[in-house]
Amino acid sequence: MGTKFRAAVITLFLSSLLLPLVFSESNDGFVRVELKKFKLDENNRNADRLTRQILDSKIARGIVRLKNYQNMQYYGEISIGTPPQKFTMGFDTGSSNLWITSSKCYFYRACYYHSKYYARRSRTYKANGTYAMVGYGKDSISGKISQDNVLVGGLTIKNQDFIEATKLSGPEHKNTKYDGLLGLGFQEISSGRVVPIWYNMMNQGLVQNPVFSLWLNRNTEEEEGGQVVFGGIDPKHHKGDHTYVPVTRKGYWEFDMGDVSVNGKPIGVSGFSAMVDSGTSLLLGPTVVITMLNHAIGAEREDNPKCKSIVRMYGKTILNMLLVKEKPKKICPLIGLCRVDGKKSNNIRTFQCNTCELIVVWMESQYKRNHTEDCILNYIDQLCDSMPARQPSLVNCLQISSMPIVSFLIGGRNFTLSPKEYVLPIGGIACISGFSSFDIAPPLGPIWTLGNVFMGRYHTVFDHGKMKVGFADAA
Ligand SMILES: *[C@@H]1O[C@H](CO)[C@@H](O)[C@H](O)[C@H]1NC(C)=O
Ligand SMILES: *[C@@H]1O[C@H](CO)[C@@H](O)[C@H](O)[C@H]1NC(C)=O
Ligand SMILES: *[C@@H]1O[C@H](CO)[C@@H](O)[C@H](O)[C@H]1NC(C)=O
Repeated sequence: MGTKFRAAVITLFLSSLLLPLVFSESNDGFVRVELKKFKLDENNRNADRLTRQILDSKIARGIVRLKNYQNMQYYGEISIGTPPQKFTMGFDTGSSNLWITSSKCYFYRACYYHSKYYARRSRTYKANGTYAMVGYGKDSISGKISQDNVLVGGLTIKNQDFIEATKLSGPEHKNTKYDGLLGLGFQEISSGRVVPIWYNMMNQGLVQNPVFSLWLNRNTEEEEGGQVVFGGIDPKHHKGDHTYVPVTRKGYWEFDMGDVSVNGKPIGVSGFSAMVDSGTSLLLGPTVVITMLNHAIGAEREDNPKCKSIVRMYGKTILNMLLVKEKPKKICPLIGLCRVDGKKSNNIRTFQCNTCELIVVWMESQYKRNHTEDCILNYIDQLCDSMPARQPSLVNCLQISSMPIVSFLIGGRNFTLSPKEYVLPIGGIACISGFSSFDIAPPLGPIWTLGNVFMGRYHTVFDHGKMKVGFADAA
């Protein structure tokens, strides 16, 4: 498999995404504020570099300290080659390749925003030359595989294969704080089948235990932005025991998730799997559930007449079919909104068909609890307007205190997120919902992506030896 299917990029660069929004909704005063802030960031970057150099001398083996950029990007330093060339990296549990911007990266603007790796300046560099590429949503990177020694948190990994990216395509690469990504997923999704660096840490006997753990700080005021520990768990950064769940499929760190609740009431849509992904800023899920969550927290609505007309014309019929226990999967083809692809017996994806399927799931989750037909139809009608038209959805910053608690059932524990934890202020002027919709088609999906919104609240252990993932309250 050459490409990785993920939404990282959609969510990583919210600030840039929202800039046009700021433009359209305010006078030009905001633009100046944004520019000033950008300059400040430049100064901060230099300050970061200095502190990083000081920290380097004290670094404990296997520990990488991270910087936190606005709770959106977490990044830390590694070096490659002899003598060492330093790079800022994203530590990404949702992908499996190590890649770095190459000195031979010329033709993309983003090439000039990052530190580059010079193979010819390293005595330990070995050529390989196999071509590899990794895709992240709309963006992708590609280049040739090279080999060198890599220094991560005081551990030297010998002969590590990585992608020297000469092509950084897509709009977002120039907005990243990092020069490359260090993938911590499984080899099964590694482009070119390259052995991931984490495997080599274990194979080369560099870590005590086949476990790594991640702590992401959500307090942007603090100096320490987070931490990756290779080979163990830092007890300073969690409270209480971890709740573990088995990895159900090697690729991402994937496991089974139960129902989602809003203020203690299960919403009645479960059975999706989930992955824990440090490379995604928000918490992504199937549209069918995200719509219900964003409705429940009062996120912005947009009139959706096409969806509503389907509710008006077919709502009662669908509800009646559910009441007489018709199989939910059959309903949309039966009323003629979906056509079935004969060979694969899958529904052919049209707007009508997609919407009908959403309505069926929403009605299924509601009809047992909401007594009157009118009440259910009215609720489904409201959900139409909560379907995410624009990602991410805006919420009213002034209403945070009245928003509900949302919880996710994992391994028998309810993992809660309070509004302060799932709403993100953007530039002090707007707030966005941390729940964003991202549909991945079967067989890979549908799947939840628990990104930084979740991982910041819950310290996460990736246990490669016992093939399980654990969560505990972060501290
Ligand atoms: C190049 O790298 C790939 C992926 O790590 C590896 O399978 C292959 O054996 C390497 N080829 C050479 C010539 O080193
Ligand atoms: C999780 O929360 C839901 C909703 O409040 C509740 O029904 C369920 O019993 C809880 N499960 C556990 C294990 O606490
Ligand atoms: C029932 O319908 C109303 C809207 O009529 C909605 O506010 C409510 O969330 C629905 N679900 C439940 C479980 O009450």
